[in-house]
Amino acid sequence: MKKLAIFASGRGSNARALIDACRSGLIEARPVVLFSDHPDAPALAMARAAGVDCHAFAPREFADKAAYENAVVEMLRPYAPDYICLAGYMRIVGAPILAVYEGRIVNIHPALLPSFPGLHAQRQAIDAGVKVSGCTVHFVDAGMDSGPIIMQTVVPVFASDDETSLAERILTVEHPTYVEAMAALCRDELCIVKRKVVRRMASGEE
Ligand code: GRF
Repeated sequence: MKKLAIFASGRGSNARALIDACRSGLIEARPVVLFSDHPDAPALAMARAAGVDCHAFAPREFADKAAYENAVVEMLRPYAPDYICLAGYMRIVGAPILAVYEGRIVNIHPALLPSFPGLHAQRQAIDAGVKVSGCTVHFVDAGMDSGPIIMQTVVPVFASDDETSLAERILTVEHPTYVEAMAALCRDELCIVKRKVVRRMASGEE
């Protein structure tokens, strides 16, 4: 059984979707720890109530980003997670965490990458006048929302939309998309070939 660490900075609805899917067996994994960089994040209370170990510390408690990330790596060590799922973790992952977990860190972004990376993805989509948007589950590399794309789901963008209504519509597809992506990863169905995420051939397949 795979082990998931979940990182969340805020509300935690994606974290909750992942925890629930592990519990129901949709994802064949155990959520072993939830980490937050905001000690008062609602995601922590949700995870604690669900019986998941929680840890929280803020970067400002450390001399610099490297010291903060080294502490995160140390905190994770006894849990030995197979994957780190970023679920509304509002920081760029740096070298200390990537050195240990690159290729095993997954993020969900509320736009169809490579369009609209970074903050306020839904506002960027509205300002650009696109007619569809959606969500992207992707591997995390050193760039901003730039790692290999695992799965995407599309939603319409209506002329009447504002940032809030579009964010709500995208959120409804984020949860099942993240669950489906992590379910496939935990079944070892996917691999990265030349920066593209592809289905692994079953043994004996041509
Ligand atoms: C989601 O829209 C996610 O795509 C983005 O941050 C938001 C987090 O929401 N990265 P929640 O905390 O999972 O409810």
